[in-house]
Amino acid sequence: MTLSENFLWGGAIAANQAEGGIFLGGRGLSNVDILPQGEDRMAIAKGDLDNLERRDDYYYPSEVAIDMYHHYLEDIDLLAEMGLKVFRMSLSWTRIFPNGDDETPNEEGLLFYENIFRKLKEKGIEPLVTLAHFDVPLALIKKYGAWRDRRMVEAYTRYARTVFTRYQGLVKYWLTINEINILLHQPFVGGGLILTDQDNRAQVIYQAAHHQLLASALATKIAHEVDTDNQVGCMLAGGSHYPYTCRPEDYLEAIHRDNGEYFFIDVQARGYYPNYALKKCQREGIEIPFENGDKELLRENPVDFVSFSYYCSRTVTAFEEDYQVTTGNLFKSIKNPHLASTEWGWQIDSLGLRSSLNMLYNRYQKPLFIVENGLGAVDKPNEEGYVEDDYRIAYTREHIKALKDAVEIDGVELLGYTSWGILDLVAASTGQMSKRYGFIFVDKEDDGSGSLKRTPKKSFYWYRDVIASNAENL
Ligand code: BG6
Repeated sequence: MTLSENFLWGGAIAANQAEGGIFLGGRGLSNVDILPQGEDRMAIAKGDLDNLERRDDYYYPSEVAIDMYHHYLEDIDLLAEMGLKVFRMSLSWTRIFPNGDDETPNEEGLLFYENIFRKLKEKGIEPLVTLAHFDVPLALIKKYGAWRDRRMVEAYTRYARTVFTRYQGLVKYWLTINEINILLHQPFVGGGLILTDQDNRAQVIYQAAHHQLLASALATKIAHEVDTDNQVGCMLAGGSHYPYTCRPEDYLEAIHRDNGEYFFIDVQARGYYPNYALKKCQREGIEIPFENGDKELLRENPVDFVSFSYYCSRTVTAFEEDYQVTTGNLFKSIKNPHLASTEWGWQIDSLGLRSSLNMLYNRYQKPLFIVENGLGAVDKPNEEGYVEDDYRIAYTREHIKALKDAVEIDGVELLGYTSWGILDLVAASTGQMSKRYGFIFVDKEDDGSGSLKRTPKKSFYWYRDVIASNAENL
């Protein structure tokens, strides 16, 4: 099997990291709008610091981001020039329902995205749309405590039904919740959760997870009812766990850690809670708030495909105290002596992508979609803003080779690949602009200064050739 002619080559962004315009067009605020750059960011992201009001002494990088709100026409022209077949983006829930659960949607917000989809269609680019990419309406956090409350399911599905109906014929690929397992690591970013000392942390997180899983299943059901052409996917922050040694304890630890992350998409893809999760809840006294009909809803509405982000693998051991730890996408890992790291300590492992593809395909037997992958690096533009990013080309080339091997040698079914941060955008973990992923340079600095001018990098021309040759020219 070789890459199909319909393979969806593309790029990805998220509303909160690119769009800006958070006070424009009748939009309401959401959790990501109150994530400042700087030292408090992570504590707020984890739900450890209750900080629901915007503060004058904070800088909020998402407020303007790369101002796609005003630049989307020229941005889509550039994406088309690169030859993109698919563009992954997310909707800002509060641009459509400013309070999350308003009686009627905000027409200006609906129109904003409709214009984007029409422009994409004109350019022959298929949208792949995430309903919630780190996006929980602030009003619902205040009203319900966000996803810990079951009423979120209704608010989310009203929003989902509205956009499925409005964009019927314009959008057919949907993702329900971005990196759903982030709920374990950054509960405020993933679920708008603020955890106090009185909270049983695991209880709140798994209860919120149950509500998100129900909402995702219901959204899948509605998407199929609205249009049988709709294809709905779940989305995992991917990257397998390696045992640090061949000690049986380390291998078992790696299995347990994989299960911990895959739990969410196990439910979304298979339609039921896996035994290991039920046992964990029983052991730890966590009560999943099942109500009548929940099991059937999950069972009857699994996703059509499984998508994931992949930046790095992780290495684990049952004997952690003896090892040096490094960072990675969302959670930490032991330093793997066989891998180099990015400037942010994320371990570069292209073969790990092939392993992940194999593992996920074996586990679910559903088509896969790599919806994020890329290298966050400091770029040094010349005076014209041009960047010679051979390091990014090298990183992406190796990952594309790995995905081709997974398809051609291992027989994995893969729908497409969208490179993360196809235009430079705000980094989710740090709020920085200087952690750049793009094939298009955006003139903006960490302090918010810059002209916002877009300039294709060397990788832009390389990727254009990759797409045109269906990855024959790497
Ligand atoms: C994923 C997210 O976690 O990784 C993206 O879905 C994020 O939103 C990406 O930007 C890369 O992480 P970061 O922190 O380098 O932006």
